[in-house]
Amino acid sequence: MPGRFYVTTPIYYVNDAPHIGHAYTTVTADAVARWHRLLGEETLFLTGTDEHGLKVQRAAEEHGQTPLAWADQTTARFAEAWELLRISNDDYIRTTEPRHHRAVQELLTRIKDNGWIYQDTYAGWYCVGCEAYYAESDLDDGNVCPIHGRPVEWFEEENWFFKLSAFEDRLTEWLSQEPSPVKPDGKRNEALGIVRQGLEDVSISRSSIDWGVPVPWDPGHVFYVWYDALINYATAAGFGSDEAAFERWWPEVHHLIGKDIIRFHCVYWPAMLMAAELAPPKSVHVHGFLLVGGEKMSKTKLNQITPAELVDDFGVDGFRHHFLHDQPFGPDGDFSYEGMVTRYNADLANNLGNLLSRVATVVDKKCGGVGPAPDAGSPLAAVATEAYAETAAAWDRVQPSVALDATWRLIRETNAHLEANEPWKMEPGPEVERVMGDALEALRIVTVLASPAVPDSCREIWRRIGLPGSPEDQRLPDAATWGQYPGGLDVAKGDPLFPRIKA
Ligand code: MSP
Repeated sequence: MPGRFYVTTPIYYVNDAPHIGHAYTTVTADAVARWHRLLGEETLFLTGTDEHGLKVQRAAEEHGQTPLAWADQTTARFAEAWELLRISNDDYIRTTEPRHHRAVQELLTRIKDNGWIYQDTYAGWYCVGCEAYYAESDLDDGNVCPIHGRPVEWFEEENWFFKLSAFEDRLTEWLSQEPSPVKPDGKRNEALGIVRQGLEDVSISRSSIDWGVPVPWDPGHVFYVWYDALINYATAAGFGSDEAAFERWWPEVHHLIGKDIIRFHCVYWPAMLMAAELAPPKSVHVHGFLLVGGEKMSKTKLNQITPAELVDDFGVDGFRHHFLHDQPFGPDGDFSYEGMVTRYNADLANNLGNLLSRVATVVDKKCGGVGPAPDAGSPLAAVATEAYAETAAAWDRVQPSVALDATWRLIRETNAHLEANEPWKMEPGPEVERVMGDALEALRIVTVLASPAVPDSCREIWRRIGLPGSPEDQRLPDAATWGQYPGGLDVAKGDPLFPRIKA
């Protein structure tokens, strides 16, 4: 019985324009969501923008705008980037929406009613970039944020506090579960390390700014932006507006995040949920940074690359494929334009593109343009079975690069099968029909398996090999079973799907 699958990206701060670091997480979540739709699961894929907090307020001030006008403008740039990249999100949340304000107020009131929120004075070093307080010992040179490389600011205010310290045991227990809710294991250990160091209570409100969700029991305060932002995942599932929906989706939620926000997702967030008597998320998948010239992209370092710049050169699928196949999910990865050209030419132009054009050309010349049916005993059948099993297992673990390696193995084996049989040298007849039927069937399966990564191209391959509908309408695992290309379909030749790019 196919189940339900709820996957999220972090919501992006609107002080910044979308860059390939944001796109990396979003494309990965999109491909994972598409995979689960192929499995026939009811899928909720959420992304959106984080619009409150001091960082956004200051960015708006610098541009002479109100925070909301600024947020409207920047969130539109994210939405536009996601449209360009064919992101198939089912919902797009903005933290300035009334549904979210309601959810934040309701969830935090519940936590307060449960006795986990109290009032006190706070004084400490604050990094506006991180929107977080730092202990002096965690700062570089006593006053520089280790992430942003900029001096922190001294803040002192009357705040509401969350009793995070009371959740050490429960968090340790949650993080120690098998299988681990935080993946990969190294990141689970990092989260455990944070808890074992000892947790201090956290200030969850600000009286010094007004750009946020008002604290319902103390109108002079707004909630601290992270305590507002994390709740977006509950809001979109229906918390505070549609309890029946929330019951259906929660806690079957899988968060995809970058390694810089582990503390918030693997410590604060599960503790908040526990305090509200809700279950913590099913899993948190943590990835590393995309580095440019060895450094994290940032506005201040001016080394940001926008998705649109790369889409101009590589096409949407060239972009998606690079970040899914060449940048394994987990470790840091160095982005280089040259590396992207190499991967595009190898995987897309020479392997998938070449397979399609060979098949179309030979079917045209030797089979009168009509695709033959495959052979039940084809040696490619076993290769396809294995490719499916490995592809499926890897998508399930949120390992797109491993999944695509497995899918691409079937492409390479099919090209090798053609090279070994040389159907282009054969006379028209049953032998050439057998070889081409097998190649078409392998291509049909590849098209379904690769569609989460390169959806537009797969739709076009599907069309060219004469199949009705689209690969996205197929259901796995059935669609991966050998022998379903019906034969007798018109196969169309066309322009190269992935023209080679000169390095
Ligand atoms: N608004 C918070 C998240 C709140 S989620 C409840 C935030 N926003 S962010 O825009 O600064 O970052 C969002 C995500 O983008 C993070 O997971 C971060 O790691 C990721 N990336 C930003 N730059 C990145 C790279 N250079 N490489 C890979 N991902 C990076 O934090």
